[in-house]
Amino acid sequence: MTAAALKNQQFRLAARPVGMPKSTDWKFTSEPVRDLADGEILVKTLYLSLDPAMRGWMNDGKSYIRPVAIDEVMRAGGVGKVIASKSPKFAVGETVYGSIGVQEYWIGAADDKTAAFNKVDGNAAPLPKYLNALGMPGMTAYFGLLEVGQPNAGETVVVSGAAGAVGQTVGQVAKHKGCHVVGIAGGKEKCDFVVNELGFDACIDYKNGSLKDGLKEHCPNGVDVYFDNVGGDILDTVLTRINMKARIIICGAISQYNNTTPVKGPANYLSLLVNRARMEGIVVFDYADRYHLGITEMAKWMKEGTFKTREDIVEGIEKFPDALLMLFEGKNFGKLVLEVAKD
Ligand SMILES: NC(=O)c1ccc[n+]([C@@H]2O[C@H](COP(=O)([O-])OP(=O)(O)OC[C@H]3O[C@@H](n4cnc5c(N)ncnc54)[C@H](OP(=O)(O)O)[C@@H]3O)[C@@H](O)[C@H]2O)c1
Repeated sequence: MTAAALKNQQFRLAARPVGMPKSTDWKFTSEPVRDLADGEILVKTLYLSLDPAMRGWMNDGKSYIRPVAIDEVMRAGGVGKVIASKSPKFAVGETVYGSIGVQEYWIGAADDKTAAFNKVDGNAAPLPKYLNALGMPGMTAYFGLLEVGQPNAGETVVVSGAAGAVGQTVGQVAKHKGCHVVGIAGGKEKCDFVVNELGFDACIDYKNGSLKDGLKEHCPNGVDVYFDNVGGDILDTVLTRINMKARIIICGAISQYNNTTPVKGPANYLSLLVNRARMEGIVVFDYADRYHLGITEMAKWMKEGTFKTREDIVEGIEKFPDALLMLFEGKNFGKLVLEVAKD
């Protein structure tokens, strides 16, 4: 079959959302796949990573990456298979990770800097793991915790969004480093999972009961490191329990991403002053030249059976708009992945 016989279905940004994204913020389009030029590859999308950050990319304004333009294919990292190649860089049949976009096929120069394709080995680990602990969320957790949080054995590490992609890795890395680890998650099922399956010491269900009481009970020695994935009231409450010289890693603030009012900052920030503590942001891409170190260590733990990951896989590209919302409604249980095609 020639490439031109293939149809490429794509989700394009139709409008900048106000609040939670709506179906009318998207355009579902289809176009023929053109033939390859020299130096190009054609990648068939297998799995796409659905990330809270996508909501930020839909907004106009300055950030760590340029916004997705109106009518542009929505940005998304993913894993795909090279199905045609006119480049010596990638052979037909190889699997790659890169910025594929929410579409069935990606076509372009093999060395395209935006797509930034790298080979991944589907025999070493199931492909969705490369979108989780062995991919961007895992690197965020690993380097954010170790480089910014600098946890010491015996210290108390608290992480919000504990059952999610970043959170599950943060807690397990902290356990491997000898810390007392307390998660914060929504619902009993998620809390049971992080304690019983992932080995956290405790998990506080913030949707059921008082977070402050939970922190008092499960962090009797206070909080040395807080890895914040959610911002808002949860950040504010944890700030009341921090120790002297505590480190707060600002990874994300998912509770604020769909606000139609200004972002709610921490009222209790003077706790940083009193405790000579520090709050520092992290952007995962800053560690790109060292990802291999994180992948090697976590892959080793996985092999030993002391590190687990959970993915929540939704099938079908047409499900993209609804699947994305799961992140903001707490409906994903583990790293949210969109399966676009079977291998
Ligand atoms: N800085 C970076 O480089 C970087 C890189 C990757 C991710 N991030 C950030 O890391 C955070 C986690 O991302 P992820 O991919 O691991 O997502 P995730 O945790 O797998 O999924 C999102 C989870 O957030 C929780 N949540 C949603 N709305 C909430 C609210 N209003 N209050 C409290 N919790 C809420 C839900 O869990 P519950 O059911 O437990 O509430 C939901 O399942 C996000 O803020 C993301 O933007 C940052």
